[in-house]
Amino acid sequence: MANKPFAQAAEQNQDDILLVLQGAFKQATKVLEVGSGTGQHAVHFAKHLTHLSWQPSDKKNMLEGIQLWVNDAALPNLSAPIELDVNLSWPTDTYDAAYAANVIHIMHWQDIKALFAGLGTTLTDDATVCIYGPFNINGHYTSASNQSFDDWLKHRDPESGLKDKAELDHLAIKNGLQPGPSWDMPANNKILSWKK
Ligand SMILES: C[S@@+](CC[C@H](N)C(=O)[O-])C[C@H]1O[C@@H](n2cnc3c(N)ncnc32)[C@H](O)[C@@H]1O
Repeated sequence: MANKPFAQAAEQNQDDILLVLQGAFKQATKVLEVGSGTGQHAVHFAKHLTHLSWQPSDKKNMLEGIQLWVNDAALPNLSAPIELDVNLSWPTDTYDAAYAANVIHIMHWQDIKALFAGLGTTLTDDATVCIYGPFNINGHYTSASNQSFDDWLKHRDPESGLKDKAELDHLAIKNGLQPGPSWDMPANNKILSWKK
């Protein structure tokens, strides 16, 4: 059998993120994860947030690896991954929560516009969105390491890089999502939230 894909970063941050999601997703019943990557977070959160069902998703080339994690975990509240490229078609199903980790800084602004437009239509009223990653605040880096990371990202792909919370809030509001609490996380990351 093929080896499951593994990301050390996902292993390291999942318990801190879980602590936030336990509160933020307390009322949630159905979560759509965008850009599930390896699938590690989907398994960890479904295992510990047993009051809700977790729907992993990603671009087509990532689905096989996520499926290996889903199969191994065999959790009743964890679905098979669905194909979701934010620029293409979104699920017809609706969700009362959405989650994404480390996707905003690799996306182009056009992708982020598509992400928020998709969330605006796919989520039900009162839904909560939590997005984890490194963000700028009021046009400034929050640490030297985030600035170095941004330089590295932009060298690799000039349209990628850290995004500013205020710009994300502006886009979210245009799509019917109001800014909610945010949480400072280890290693100069944050969780930002919005409410539909
Ligand atoms: C850095 S990885 C993060 C994976 C995982 N969430 C984690 O924290 O370990 C970024 C993920 O975003 C996905 N992604 C990139 N562009 C996307 C798009 N246009 N639509 C949906 N997912 C996308 C990638 O396939 C990848 O799995």
